[in-house]
Amino acid sequence: MPSLPELDKNNIPTHVAIIMDGNGRWAQDRGLPRVMGHKAGVKSVNAIVRAAGELGVKVLTLYAFSTENWNRPPVEVQTLMSLLKSYLEKELESLVKNDVSLRCTGQKEKLPQEVQKVLNQVIARTSLNKGLILNLALSYGSRNEITMAARCLAQKCCAGEIAVEDISEEVFSEHLYTAGLADPDLLIRTGGEHRLSNFLLWQASYSELYITNTRWPDFDKDHLIDALIDYQDRQRRFGKTTEQVLVKES
Ligand code: IPE
Ligand code: IPE
Ligand code: MG
Repeated sequence: MPSLPELDKNNIPTHVAIIMDGNGRWAQDRGLPRVMGHKAGVKSVNAIVRAAGELGVKVLTLYAFSTENWNRPPVEVQTLMSLLKSYLEKELESLVKNDVSLRCTGQKEKLPQEVQKVLNQVIARTSLNKGLILNLALSYGSRNEITMAARCLAQKCCAGEIAVEDISEEVFSEHLYTAGLADPDLLIRTGGEHRLSNFLLWQASYSELYITNTRWPDFDKDHLIDALIDYQDRQRRFGKTTEQVLVKES
């Protein structure tokens, strides 16, 4: 029997981004209301945050709420916001203990005041931590992010703070919510849909994509390891030829 491929501890992606999808279907399959799927999904968040740190991932971006998700039924939006608040309250001490540093990517100001308050507290309490960066994408949409960056740069040009010809890819990146973070190496989507749903359109230009039918509440450390093993089997060419990449590796 061929042996199963093993995880190479020396080739762990620096930045893993996850579209945590499939909560609603997970619940509906069990005859439960959709919100029960979101509740179950919180357990997966805890498991994957812990596992990512243990496996040596440096940045974990979790897509938790999109700009379009505001259009869901109000009860579902309220449940998601209250789950977010209670997650942050409950996990604060464990994030501190595990040296996790929390960041937020998205329209933080659109979140309910009480969520913003606890989010800011957790960000402040964990800001000096040196372990895993947990980057929560909240009220996040790439088109909004890119539009805001363009607007900010246009204002700086008008004010004479930056010259048009100085707007480079690097400068543009520094005006996105993810400023300072390396681009994701691996982008995982649970729940089986083959689309980006407005997630990291700029940053994922060269991310390796991994789509699994496993729904988010069922996604655990073993599933994450499967995704990492799959990633390790890819050849990242960044536009070059296989031969060029092999020469560089040898
Ligand atoms: C992802 O699960 C969670 C959020 C978008 C907030 P869904 O709620 O989209 O679950 P499905 O895709 O309907 O199963
Ligand atoms: C993407 O899932 C957003 C999050 C996981 C937070 P959706 O369920 O909102 O995406 P679509 O609507 O299927 O594209
Ligand atoms: Mg969905």
